[in-house]
Amino acid sequence: MDTALDAPPEAVGTFAEAAPAKINLALHVVDRRPDGYHELETLVVFTEYGDRLTVEPAARDHFSIHGSYGGQLPVDEGNLVVRAREALRRACGADLRPVSIRLEKNLPIASGIGGGSSDAAAALRALARHWRLADTAFADAVALALGADVPMCLAARPLLARGAGERIEPVSGLPRLAVVLVNPGVEVSTPQVFSGLASRENPPLQALPGKADFEALLGWLAASRNDLEPPALSIAPAIAESLAALAASGAAFTRMSGSGATCFGLYASDSAARAAADIIRRDRPGWFVAATSTTG
Ligand code: C5P
Repeated sequence: MDTALDAPPEAVGTFAEAAPAKINLALHVVDRRPDGYHELETLVVFTEYGDRLTVEPAARDHFSIHGSYGGQLPVDEGNLVVRAREALRRACGADLRPVSIRLEKNLPIASGIGGGSSDAAAALRALARHWRLADTAFADAVALALGADVPMCLAARPLLARGAGERIEPVSGLPRLAVVLVNPGVEVSTPQVFSGLASRENPPLQALPGKADFEALLGWLAASRNDLEPPALSIAPAIAESLAALAASGAAFTRMSGSGATCFGLYASDSAARAAADIIRRDRPGWFVAATSTTG
């Protein structure tokens, strides 16, 4: 498995948090709200693979970004991590010490796997620990104001999300899934994908099977959709190539995550996922490809 999150243990005074990739196994757009947001029903899981964030004490606030996709991001208020730090300070109304935050950016940007939202959620978790905030309700309130996906990334466990994404119901009993993530190197604008939807009132998700082993989950997935896939495909045709590459590599199931362009394949075993990732990497050296598994 690709091991972006296998990091050294925390140094004294350092608080490290994983910012895992988010996968929308299914995403139904069921309605449109007066505020322009869409009502969703989505089954979400998180992966071992992702970004990683550390918080340390410092004489003054500092934020740095490292890793494969770090160079493309702002380090000021344009970054959700900085906004999360400041929003948490404001919400607490206390004089909270300066911090140095270091982000290792392994996930592609604007790619439907929640990278920015997961970074913001990891910052909230790490800062709450560092500042010893006993009441984590601060973090919950701040998360939604930062973005529709931040509350689910704060939960970072298998879940069903409804509303704009903030009404979260934990899901138990899903099997651990062997996954390959593929991104063809195109950034996709989430608002643009939502505005390309042909229908904003689609059928809701079916109830999950009582005991969701891999076969039962595959059956359920086959009857579900990602309603954002058609508009994303018309904006970024390379998504079709990603889905085809995953299918050709032996995936038991393929789909786009979120508003794209990252697609995922599910495999019968970790070794099948690793072998598939090796083939796709060889054939498509410019693409982001990661073999990983879901977390419980
Ligand atoms: O909340 P966030 O900033 O992540 O959302 C980005 C954009 O995605 C929104 O401005 C909106 O256009 C779209 N969106 C939506 N319905 C949702 C989530 C996001 O229309 N439930």
